[in-house]
Amino acid sequence: MKVNGQATRTIWLAEDAESVEIIDQTKLPHLFEIVRLTTLAEAAHAIEVMLVRGAPLIGATAGYGMWLAMRQDSSDAGLLTAYERLFVTRPTAVNLGWALDSARARLSPLPPPDRAAAALALAAAICEEDVAINRGIGVAGLPVIQALAAKKTKGGPVNILTHCNAGWLATVDWGTATAPIYMAHDAGIQVHVWVDETRPRNQGASLTAWELGNHGVPHTVIVDNAGGHFMQHGQVDMVITGTDRTTAAGDVCNKIGTYLKALAAQDNGVPFYVGLPSPTIDWTIENGVRDVPIEERAAEEVTRMTGRLDDGGIATVLITPENSPAANPAFDVTPARLVTGLITERGIAEPSVEGLAMLFPDRIR
Ligand code: MRU
Repeated sequence: MKVNGQATRTIWLAEDAESVEIIDQTKLPHLFEIVRLTTLAEAAHAIEVMLVRGAPLIGATAGYGMWLAMRQDSSDAGLLTAYERLFVTRPTAVNLGWALDSARARLSPLPPPDRAAAALALAAAICEEDVAINRGIGVAGLPVIQALAAKKTKGGPVNILTHCNAGWLATVDWGTATAPIYMAHDAGIQVHVWVDETRPRNQGASLTAWELGNHGVPHTVIVDNAGGHFMQHGQVDMVITGTDRTTAAGDVCNKIGTYLKALAAQDNGVPFYVGLPSPTIDWTIENGVRDVPIEERAAEEVTRMTGRLDDGGIATVLITPENSPAANPAFDVTPARLVTGLITERGIAEPSVEGLAMLFPDRIR
């Protein structure tokens, strides 16, 4: 997508061909800063502290992290160390394990001197595949928005609610939830996006709003608690979110608060869709509530907020009593029964074992 009119991805090989560059997403929307990653430690740190985030981008960064690691130490021990270091950075997004397993399978049989080049080729391939997959999700999801637009006999935009950031910043390009939205907008369909702020880290308010604004897509930021109200008043035509891990039975794990939106959507007859790239499907589990590991992040993300002061400075402030404890589960699971459809690169799947198996017969275990 474009930043200041220039086509930009979220991760790319630096000009020196010896490092990787990323956008520091902790600084957005107030500062657009590019950070260079040169070592395994830097790549792992970037994922952990969420300079990069979003399931597909975490996977892509892990791919490049393996390359940086192989440049430092391509021995069998180096390979294992890199795998284990990156694997523990963030536990919920299954794309991480998928990228690392792919790298290990590709690199292990090779002689150590050949591993760095192979890791770089794999990381680049993961990125290209992500872009193609997300474009496919856009193509598959566009007819849903077109159909909703056709029903608007009195005119007005198709109102779409989204949670967190499943936009291009969460992927290499296009985004998952946002791909159909960008395609609809580019095709001249009137869309308007309700952007959940997404406490505690505010990926909606900071990131989704920023990227939609850059692309000229009309949007309104709302507090997390407002979605149900807008649904009750007929102001939401569909919900579309991303996912960090979807089970073989279609249970969707995504940013904390997604489940509440799905409940409200069902109560109000609003269709609830999920943009689902196939690498985000965990074919080894069916019951998401029981089996998806939920990342617990620092209490400070709840007790403090960061923003821009009127003088332009960035400040972090405490918003709770000093001694109040806080809990911070980063994700929740929306059971398949609350999901209308899983928009994948191969089309829209019914959220069930059969629905996913029908689209991905080559992947089921
Ligand atoms: O904690 P984050 O910002 O990594 O969480 C991101 C999400 O929950 C996204 O919705 C998900 O990764 C899908 S990204 C296309």
